[in-house]
Amino acid sequence: MRLTRSLLCSLFTVALVPAAILSLAPAGAAAPLPDGNGVEVVAHRGASADAPENTLAAVEEAIAQDADSIEVDVQRTADGHLVLLHDVTLTRTTDVERVFPDRALDPVGEFTLDELKRLDAGSWFGPEFAGEPIPTFDELLERTGDRAALLIELKEPARYPGIGSEVAAAIGDPRPGVVVQSFDHDVMTAFAAVAPDVPAGWLFGTRPTTAELDAAAEHADQVNPSFRVVDEALLAAVAERGMQTGVYTVNDEADMRRMIDTGVHRIITDRPGVLRKVLAG
Ligand code: G3P
Ligand code: CA
Repeated sequence: MRLTRSLLCSLFTVALVPAAILSLAPAGAAAPLPDGNGVEVVAHRGASADAPENTLAAVEEAIAQDADSIEVDVQRTADGHLVLLHDVTLTRTTDVERVFPDRALDPVGEFTLDELKRLDAGSWFGPEFAGEPIPTFDELLERTGDRAALLIELKEPARYPGIGSEVAAAIGDPRPGVVVQSFDHDVMTAFAAVAPDVPAGWLFGTRPTTAELDAAAEHADQVNPSFRVVDEALLAAVAERGMQTGVYTVNDEADMRRMIDTGVHRIITDRPGVLRKVLAG
């Protein structure tokens, strides 16, 4: 892990964790582990238990619930705009079947931004969110400003060649706490080359192997697995390689407590307000 990555990644954590328990790790050294109260609260797709995922309503709800950071999924439209959406198709979270009945199963990347902006991304969640639009990535950056950090997932990036560079360009100067992550480790390796100053995370759906951890350490600052595969041995293996651990998606209070006790750096949850209360004890 390069020092620039370690430093940028640590700056936001320093703001959250009492100074007495933190010291910035030099490259190659174990990342400092926070105590329970230092765990970063990351709102998964915004506060997605209480508002429609990946919308500005969910972002505002996450900030209202005192999230430190907001996780979003980024894809690209047919005309080159970065937008927030999790699924490759629009059927689950929009009214695409009503607006574009012949194209309902087409992938996101085949719609222009003007077309996506005609969709309602809120009604599926609840009538009070009717008309909530799909946001662009620029709208997210403008809305959040310095009110929250961001954990930006490149979703299915192999579909969108060059999307890592575009996200890095949209971010501009690296901001403390703003991290880019993906399950696609080849894309993240390329991302580290084009955006060496933007902190990076590698997502894992299964327990990372030693070889995968060694590879991640070359290019990333964070290893972010499903909480179901995390234990103290894995956290130690990540820390030995100079990286931090974030876990997804932890919605049950008992699981939150277990992850806090295990020593993770950040917890990604649909319920940031609940996690905040658990952390407060
Ligand atoms: O940030 C981790 C988590 O979002 C990865 O899974 O499917 O919710 O994007 P998914
Ligand atoms: Ca995600």
